[in-house]
Amino acid sequence: MAQSCILIALAGFITLLVQATGKEIAISREQNVWHKANATFYGDMTGAKTMACGYGDLFKQGYSLQTTALSTALFDGGLACGACFEIRCVDTPQWCIPNAGTITVTATNFCPPNYQKQDGNWCNPPQRHFDLSMPTFMKIAYYKAGIVPVRYRRVLCNKQGRVKFEGNGNRYWLLVLVYNV
Ligand SMILES: *[C@@H]1O[C@H](CO)[C@@H](O)[C@H](O)[C@H]1NC(C)=O
Repeated sequence: MAQSCILIALAGFITLLVQATGKEIAISREQNVWHKANATFYGDMTGAKTMACGYGDLFKQGYSLQTTALSTALFDGGLACGACFEIRCVDTPQWCIPNAGTITVTATNFCPPNYQKQDGNWCNPPQRHFDLSMPTFMKIAYYKAGIVPVRYRRVLCNKQGRVKFEGNGNRYWLLVLVYNV
């Protein structure tokens, strides 16, 4: 009985591992391809907007302000939640901070379309748009810019890559079963 429990747990574990690896291979194919988008920032320093990805308190989870909201075109119906993006400011020397390099952010939120607004409807489809926290935006562009063109690419998340996997409780579940033997 205990043995079959372990087998079932192992099978589940391996399935997850294979799934995770498959996802990483898909992402690594996507890496190094830089796409066009625009970026803005939202008003305050707290990073606390409605969190469409359901991550709760981002500070407690170690995301701090390195997060972004994505427009419909990037959000992918929520599939992009937890994905990491490397972003650099481009094409506007007057707005891009010289030699700022790139920022890497985790997608934690949705930037909804706004069909009423004439100005600032950046998150409407089909536009690709990152709405960053102010401090993160200001690492690559000047505050006065307001909005800047960027290039972005999907990258593997350093710290957060495993969060989703562990968050499912599968690793814990495996450990519990083994401990029960
Ligand atoms: C960036 O913003 C400009 C100006 O609003 C717009 O024309 C362009 O399509 C946007 N780029 C992307 C990739 O959405």
